[in-house]
Amino acid sequence: MTTFNILLLAGDGIGPEVMAEVKRVIAWLNTKRPATFNTEDDLAGGCAYDAHGEAISDAAMAKAHTADAVILGAVGGPKWDGVPYDKRPEAGLLRLRKDLGLFANLRPAICYPPLADASSLKREIVEGLDIMIVRELTGGVYFGEPKELVTLESGEKRAVDTQIYAEHEIERIARSAFELAKKRGGRLASAEKSNVMKTGVLWRQTVSRIGRDEYPEIELSHVLADNCAMQLVRNPKQFDVLVTDNLFGDVLSDVASMLTGSLGMLPSASLGAPDAHGRTPAMYEPVHGSAPDIAGQGVANPIATIASFGMALRYTFNMPAEADMIDRAIAAALAKGIRTADIMQRGMTRVSTADMGNAIIAELESF
Ligand code: IPM
Ligand code: MG
Repeated sequence: MTTFNILLLAGDGIGPEVMAEVKRVIAWLNTKRPATFNTEDDLAGGCAYDAHGEAISDAAMAKAHTADAVILGAVGGPKWDGVPYDKRPEAGLLRLRKDLGLFANLRPAICYPPLADASSLKREIVEGLDIMIVRELTGGVYFGEPKELVTLESGEKRAVDTQIYAEHEIERIARSAFELAKKRGGRLASAEKSNVMKTGVLWRQTVSRIGRDEYPEIELSHVLADNCAMQLVRNPKQFDVLVTDNLFGDVLSDVASMLTGSLGMLPSASLGAPDAHGRTPAMYEPVHGSAPDIAGQGVANPIATIASFGMALRYTFNMPAEADMIDRAIAAALAKGIRTADIMQRGMTRVSTADMGNAIIAELESF
């Protein structure tokens, strides 16, 4: 029997609450399926800063490097507003992404039919939506140097962030996106700001070249990132796979999340390049944050994190049948009217985080 090692970094705010439900899904799978998942917990984010004075310890990083997959809850919160910039909770998350080389961030935005009315957009705009946002995750303005906030001789302050992309960074994310488009609807849209940014010009040229030379069968289109945001709310179903840089991907995926009903619905997979043994570093996390306003109340939606584990089954553990089961169990619980507060609608049953977990596990049991 295959054994997989998973590092769980629940993090801050609602992170531990949603992670508790993932643990129950993992425990359930361990009793049913021909694979064993060993899990280990560690700290990342503000909780790690409180314990070690760093947003992630070297020991936790070492575990992340050897684990088959990392699952992260969420990091951050007002409690850590005053900590030094390089030790803020988000720095732990960024170190994980950078050190593990997780350049490809997959954010599928799927509108489950029973949630079409929970979206702020009209049902006919979002019903049946199934798009995949592919966000570059280890480059661009998140990591570019110089990155500083300095006081000039005049006493005025000035801040600099640097948007920087080398060709190989664009090539590899483009290939990830083209490969996904090949397995899906065969269409790829690439978003940048080539009308004002040099990185956008290089992005467009490079994606075009990869498409022409390696993926002539994929229908490629280019869209300016601002127009893309507008198109996502005007007519989101025109998109199949959407590839974009780190910052635009951050923004556009939050936009896309509302098409699915709630930010609490969006999972993600962050993947690196396979090593010499064919092992691909991977981290799975919900797109939502730590939601400090509702933390500790047991009302957070665990679906994005459970679905992130589902993505781990698909992309790391090569268990597509089990991944499909998780997705079907989520859909079935929603179809029965089970709702956490963020997706609550009239006539439905409002449940706690744990009861959403219960409902999903009950569906899994029934298959
Ligand atoms: C995300 C988040 C992170 C990001 C934050 C928490 C640093 O918003 O994963 O989308 O900006 O990448
Ligand atoms: Mg974000």
